[in-house]
Amino acid sequence: MQAEAPQTIYLKDYTPFGWHVESVHLTFRLAPHSTRVLSKIRFAPNPDAPAQTFFLHGEMLKLIAAKIDGAPVTPDVTDEGLTVAVPSGAFLWEAEVEIDPKGNTALEGLYMSNGMYCTQCEAEGFRKITYYPDRPDVMSTFTVRIEGDEKVKLSNGNPQAEGDGFAEWHDPWPKPAYLFALVAGDLVNHPGAFTTMSGKDVELNIWVRPGDEDKCAFGMEALKKSMKWDEEVYGREYDLDIFNIVAVDDFNMGAMENKGLNVFNSSCVLASPETSTDANFERVEAIIAHEYFHNWTGNRITCRDWFQLCLKEGLTVFRDSQFTSDMRSAPVKRISDVIDLRGRQFPEDQGPLSHPVRPESFQEINNFYTATVYEKGAEVIGMLKRLVGDEAYAKALDLYFDRHDGQACTIEDWLKVFEDATGRDLSQFKRWYSQAGTPRVSVSESFADGTYSLTFRQETTPTPGQPEKAPQVIPLAVGLLNPNGDEVLPTTLLEFNQSEQTFNFNGFAAKPVPSLLRGFSAPVVLDRDAGREEQAFLLAHDTDTFTRWDAGRQLARETLVDMILTGATPDMAYIDGLEAVLRDETLDPAYRALMMGTPSQSELAQVLADRGHVPDPDAIWQAAETLAQVKAERWTDLLPRLAAEAEVTGTYSPDAEQSARRALGAAVLSLQTRLDGGAAAEAQFARADNMTLQLSALSNLIRAGRDEAALKAFEDQWRGDRLVMDKWFGLQIAATTPEKVVPRTEALTAHPAFDWKNPNRFRAVMGAMMTHHAGFHSADGAGYRLLADWLIRLDDVNPQTTARMCQAFQTWRRYDAGRQETIRTELERIRSKQKLSRDVDEMVSRILG
Ligand code: PHE
Ligand code: ZN
Repeated sequence: MQAEAPQTIYLKDYTPFGWHVESVHLTFRLAPHSTRVLSKIRFAPNPDAPAQTFFLHGEMLKLIAAKIDGAPVTPDVTDEGLTVAVPSGAFLWEAEVEIDPKGNTALEGLYMSNGMYCTQCEAEGFRKITYYPDRPDVMSTFTVRIEGDEKVKLSNGNPQAEGDGFAEWHDPWPKPAYLFALVAGDLVNHPGAFTTMSGKDVELNIWVRPGDEDKCAFGMEALKKSMKWDEEVYGREYDLDIFNIVAVDDFNMGAMENKGLNVFNSSCVLASPETSTDANFERVEAIIAHEYFHNWTGNRITCRDWFQLCLKEGLTVFRDSQFTSDMRSAPVKRISDVIDLRGRQFPEDQGPLSHPVRPESFQEINNFYTATVYEKGAEVIGMLKRLVGDEAYAKALDLYFDRHDGQACTIEDWLKVFEDATGRDLSQFKRWYSQAGTPRVSVSESFADGTYSLTFRQETTPTPGQPEKAPQVIPLAVGLLNPNGDEVLPTTLLEFNQSEQTFNFNGFAAKPVPSLLRGFSAPVVLDRDAGREEQAFLLAHDTDTFTRWDAGRQLARETLVDMILTGATPDMAYIDGLEAVLRDETLDPAYRALMMGTPSQSELAQVLADRGHVPDPDAIWQAAETLAQVKAERWTDLLPRLAAEAEVTGTYSPDAEQSARRALGAAVLSLQTRLDGGAAAEAQFARADNMTLQLSALSNLIRAGRDEAALKAFEDQWRGDRLVMDKWFGLQIAATTPEKVVPRTEALTAHPAFDWKNPNRFRAVMGAMMTHHAGFHSADGAGYRLLADWLIRLDDVNPQTTARMCQAFQTWRRYDAGRQETIRTELERIRSKQKLSRDVDEMVSRILG
């Protein structure tokens, strides 16, 4: 239990810091348990700030000495920082502190990973390095000297001097402390170069541990493509002489956009055909782009305070998805993003952790790096672009960069550039930033005298702290088809901005069929109860790739719900309609692979709960199994044909064309395995020469219970590769049958390679368990208990990762009384742990409600 009640921080309480920081000089004398950090910081009064006591953040620091203008001072030091009397004008603050990087298991501040020093400062980690006003609106230039024997010593900006046992860096661009970074270790680099649009040569490097050099080439190409794309599409040029990326094995998140020195979780930058799947390659490309794009959206223009996190994250996710759409298949990217949004953001937005895209309060900011801030934040920008149009969007972005370069901004600043560029009033649109929850849109239609009418209603259920919701402006992209399947109204954008609103379309001989929410034009739940015939019609005829795919998805959902509730057999109209699509060889194989997917079991649980039923995880599992089995049996002709189409000849490439075939191949293999008990999977496993094929084969062998030899062979082959072993750990839980999930998880936690302090390994195992719907929710509560045991253990070591994984419990109120009771008991057990972190305390309290 926390000693004191945690403090809540409110957006409305924002006040600027009382001083400007004119320059920062840091010297690091590296030592694993006793690094000395010497700081020289020039402060000058900020005339725009209210009078205040001089306070510097600082946590886990041993203050050795402090001076003001050269004279020793004795500040008042607490666990959170220090206060000290300062002169009324400008002054020089100097401090020497000692820190313990090796003892830092939380991976925030300066820490060690496999013998290398590295930092993670976002959001509030810099205060664990030295005393500083650790808030994003305080920006300054940094000069950094690193002293130590390590071969490679890196920091932000450009290299300035290097000699025996030291290196100096200078970053000319003012930045907040959260973008500070330092890396030192015996690293090797994969070099590259890029010439910017104005002809400046930039040195590029990817720094890795010796042995990982052969996994950098793909990342380097992705970086160059990102640099080029940002010039071409957004007119943004890189602004330093050098750009470094470092791969780190121990990292809480995916990657970090520190100025000129991006630090990556090694899983998000290293890639090779033998060790990475197609999906891994695509993810590496997207994350490299994301971090690079932050150089403008995040670094040159940053956030005034952490409530504005979506200002940089929503925009940068939006930009990286544009990039992926341009590099690969736009329809496939859009559908994948929607699957992800519905799978992660919707449950968050519809449960106890629901919060606005721009939250108004928090206890621990680390808990707000969420799917809502990131992914819904990106959807909000997509809507804005749809509403104002592509040209106005480009104009507004130019204005944003012009007006706010070098500033720490707010959502108000962001919306103002759109208002100024377009003359549009965005006050209603702003509700997307302030109202939490997923709007539900229901539809009714009528047809008379050639006029077709669509009436929409919107409703957002109450979310924590927000009982009442005002109508939002929802861009609805719609098209109309005539009964022959010809498009009679091409995609048209309706601005639906009232609680209820009717739109009329004239001049039809027969009642058309509506295709609604094309391209998933808004992050809403569309409740359209039009019957399966209409969905089957859209599955066959819709010209919009998203709504066509979604029609198939809805048919799958409805048949599964029927099977679960009434024991019905699968709807053959769905299976045959899908078959027709799958036989259409003009369609991208990746698109057809997506068509073969069905809603996740967790999504089905939510649908059942929304319709007033208590979801039974075993029944859901069973229905999904039966549906897959019936498809496999029905498609004995089709499967070999698709398998032939999925064959790839020539050398492996992770490009869209080849990955598409392999994605189709994987979908086929999972059905094939139901017919042959794993024979085809075994053959594929034996001949696989890339990780994509090897892993899909292994996954099916696990599913078929024919995995003993394969798991052993895989382990023998890959025990020396941490990232591949993460897959080995995770897959044998994720791909197995429900009754084996908890026992396997338990057994794997006893495996000598279960290095639970490494976030990737912990997530591989516990993350796989908690996302196996039927396995995690096993009726005896064993999954809940096992997860709680491990969260309690990890909290002392790494609060941030522990808190994120508490999300496993966010949907608890969907389930029956017995499960709810067990989960509540486990959450209470976590909450009553000794020395519970602020991170986990906040998460558990919010989940319990
Ligand atoms: N800012 C990082 C990104 O989105 C994410 C991150 C947050 C990394 C906090 C580490 C800590 O690119
Ligand atoms: Zn980001």
